[in-house]
Amino acid sequence: MTRHAHITGWGMAVPERVLTNLELEQIVDTNDEWIVSRTGIRERRIAANTETTASLGTQAALRALQGTDVNASDIDLVIVATSSPEHIFPATASVIQDNIGATHAGAFDLLAACTGFIFALNMAAQAVRSGNIDKALVIGSETMSRIVNYEDRNTAILFGDGAGAFLVEGSAEPGGVLSCVMRSDGSGGDLLSIPAGGSFMPTSPETVANNLHSIQMNGREVFRFATRVMVAATRDAVEDAGLTLEDVSLIVPHQANVRIIEAAARGLKMPLERFAINVEKYGNTSAASIPIAFCEAWDQGRIRTGDNLVLVGFGGGLTWGAMALQMTMPERVITKVDRRRSRRIRTLARMRSMSRRVGRRVESLFLRTHAEAKT
Ligand code: ACO
Repeated sequence: MTRHAHITGWGMAVPERVLTNLELEQIVDTNDEWIVSRTGIRERRIAANTETTASLGTQAALRALQGTDVNASDIDLVIVATSSPEHIFPATASVIQDNIGATHAGAFDLLAACTGFIFALNMAAQAVRSGNIDKALVIGSETMSRIVNYEDRNTAILFGDGAGAFLVEGSAEPGGVLSCVMRSDGSGGDLLSIPAGGSFMPTSPETVANNLHSIQMNGREVFRFATRVMVAATRDAVEDAGLTLEDVSLIVPHQANVRIIEAAARGLKMPLERFAINVEKYGNTSAASIPIAFCEAWDQGRIRTGDNLVLVGFGGGLTWGAMALQMTMPERVITKVDRRRSRRIRTLARMRSMSRRVGRRVESLFLRTHAEAKT
């Protein structure tokens, strides 16, 4: 029996704190007019001290489950696409798995910069299609504000924080993920990178003093690359799905710069109205931007059951990719956030997590005492 991977739930979370272009004018040598005309960005969200990539991802994941009949304990796999993880390890996916009480799930992070969400969604869809798993949570979550140098006007104006999540479920019904194009060109890795903190350039007083733990970017080159690959990847994904561009009702592109989206629209000869655009409100939230744009487009009634969509993105690596999918989910009534339900799930998960930690400590104490008694 052929299995298909359907998107059956989705949710997003952004910090409350808004950082406007006018505020940025006070921080770096820039101005609102330049930022709006060159990027389309008017404001972005910035995580509070208490918020992290995992906390935003947890909220988005719980919202994706809301209104579905899936509990966190039914989830088989959690994948988090992020370039600003909670730690190098443990994976942010494991932190979120614990936060939501997905007690039967495997969990891992996937790093493909801003393309990460598309790649992660494809990995989850392939696992569902193969029959290996039935339900996956795919989360794009970022706190880019933690890896941006606010003295560098090239990057300080672009990025923001947020998270989005999809619930993927298998069924015999046709639809869901139809095709996916995944590409990389590592020869352009230096165009967009965080040079230090990994095995190539371990953290040292020099790397910190030279700001090598924040994003370094060749904006012009990335711009040229992005406009080229968005068009090609979209065409390939649509063709692989056996569709034409006319069959696609909405394109949900990575939100980096409105001029990149406009160039893609021109290249595809599609009107801009068929693109989901919210870069003006959130800036570039990297791996979170596509699911956030999707959630807002859904809430605005721009996506309906039966629609064919294309998700398309690009980013550091260099990486790029596009996915064609058909929405098969019955129209959802619930879009309002049920904070009490989320709080209840989190409290239960926290208690479970705590009892496991205590259990582990007691067990190790017992084993130590036992070993000492033997010697
Ligand atoms: N404010 C004011 N002036 C600025 C700023 C700023 N924030 N930044 C650059 N300028 C100046 C430059 O110094 C330059 O001045 P000059 O002509 O006197 O030398 C002028 O503005 C033009 O600079 P460009 O770099 O040519 O500007 P451009 O139109 O290319 O816009 C931008 C720059 C917005 C960065 C654009 O190139 C871009 O969006 N590139 C893609 C970036 C991107 O998408 N990155 C994320 C990828 S996803 C990921 O994986 C994280």
